[in-house]
Amino acid sequence: MSKTLFIKTWGCQMNVYDSARMADVLAPLGYRPVEEPDGADMVILNTCHIREKAAEKVFSELGRLRILKDEKATAGNGRMILAVAGCVAQAEGEEIVARAPQVDMVFGPQTYHTLPEMVAKATRATGSVLNTDFPAESKFDHLPEESNSQGVSAFLAVQEGCDKFCTFCVVPYTRGAEFSRPAAQIVLEAKRLVAGGTREISLLGQNVNAWHGDGPDGSTWGLGRLIRELAEIDGLARIRYTTSHPRDMDDDLIRAHAEVPQLMPYLHLPVQAGSDRILAAMNRKHTADDYRRVVDRLRAVNPDLALSGDFIVGFPGESDADFAATLKLVSDVGYAQAYTFKYSPRPGTPAALEGSQVAEEVKEARLAALQQLIAAQQAAFNHGFVGRTIPVLFDRVGRRDGQLHGRSPWMQSVHAVADERLLGRIVEVRIDEARPNSLGGTVVTGEHISTPQGMRRVPSLEASA
Ligand code: 5AD
Ligand code: SF4
Repeated sequence: MSKTLFIKTWGCQMNVYDSARMADVLAPLGYRPVEEPDGADMVILNTCHIREKAAEKVFSELGRLRILKDEKATAGNGRMILAVAGCVAQAEGEEIVARAPQVDMVFGPQTYHTLPEMVAKATRATGSVLNTDFPAESKFDHLPEESNSQGVSAFLAVQEGCDKFCTFCVVPYTRGAEFSRPAAQIVLEAKRLVAGGTREISLLGQNVNAWHGDGPDGSTWGLGRLIRELAEIDGLARIRYTTSHPRDMDDDLIRAHAEVPQLMPYLHLPVQAGSDRILAAMNRKHTADDYRRVVDRLRAVNPDLALSGDFIVGFPGESDADFAATLKLVSDVGYAQAYTFKYSPRPGTPAALEGSQVAEEVKEARLAALQQLIAAQQAAFNHGFVGRTIPVLFDRVGRRDGQLHGRSPWMQSVHAVADERLLGRIVEVRIDEARPNSLGGTVVTGEHISTPQGMRRVPSLEASA
């Protein structure tokens, strides 16, 4: 019997990936994804614990869902199984069970391959099923093949967890120790994605560039070697990876940015802060100059590389001079875009216990100043494209009539009026307009389709469809 499943996802791309895989695990049980929670047979909240606000939202969402669950039961439409998954579940599982008795299942990021057993238990039981173990086996060895194609641009988890223990961060506790999936498993999954129509793969990991594995020749591979292997897959036009730690940018990975044409010239490389004192207190294990040197090495091999980053303002003890060092680093490096956060004390992390917490208004002011600087850099970066013709991979229908949405090699969103048959293709687009967060352009006539081997002119759309 067909049952309906609604999954709401917060947080990082890894959570987006996990949600898709949960749907794959539940498909053989008859669950089919729907767009709304009303009346659904199962609702999963896949949660994020990285900052306080993200976690708070889960409890308010559970209040709303309790009403939907009661309505479904009262209307005689059966039971809504309500689940909390992801990092809030991992960190606060017992509290969820205690505070929200309407919840039937609570499970962390490492146990969702056991969903069939959990669903069976939850169906029989009246209390909640709690599963926040870090099992010895890898979930990746137990997940089914991806049931449906992820589309033009797909995520592929290659690494999970973190051993870095930055003093502000919950990830080492919620996602567990660093784990790399075997190379052969990744290559197989990538081939399957490409066979299903994927043209771009983003390799995911909390510390993706710490990925390592055994090659078929018995040698240890790093991420650069894995990327070279994936670049051999026919039809895979673009490769990206995120998120990286500056300490794990090794020579081979840096060289791959010069040598692998499919590897896109865009890198998310968080530094968090520009003051060495704060970087030490954050336990980042690198200085601001170490980071500058990594950026210099990357730009030396590929001057075209655009950078993105993460920044935290108001870390405990951050002085005006420390913050000025962050602004200086941002000015020196120059970002195509970046994510900025006010420090949020997280239970169980060392920095949360520091006495020297920064006042909220100071955090606000620093955030505004940093955002202003980054917005100006982003605007300048985007404006530099006006008048240029660039290869755009169209990945979905745009919001406006007749428009498609695509991505430039540098991750910018690009909108252009284009035939839907160009979805999944890389097309030359002349950029006419730069907006704060996207570009607008015109498809260059006589579609030039770029392939990993270079550009080729497609005689007509019909011939190439
Ligand atoms: N407070 C604010 N920002 C945080 N991040 C991680 N933990 C915290 C925290 N406690 C940010 C970091 C990280 C990104 C994913 O979230 O910048 O790179
Ligand atoms: Fe968190 Fe630091 Fe690990 Fe990134 S490297 S996941 S910020 S502990």
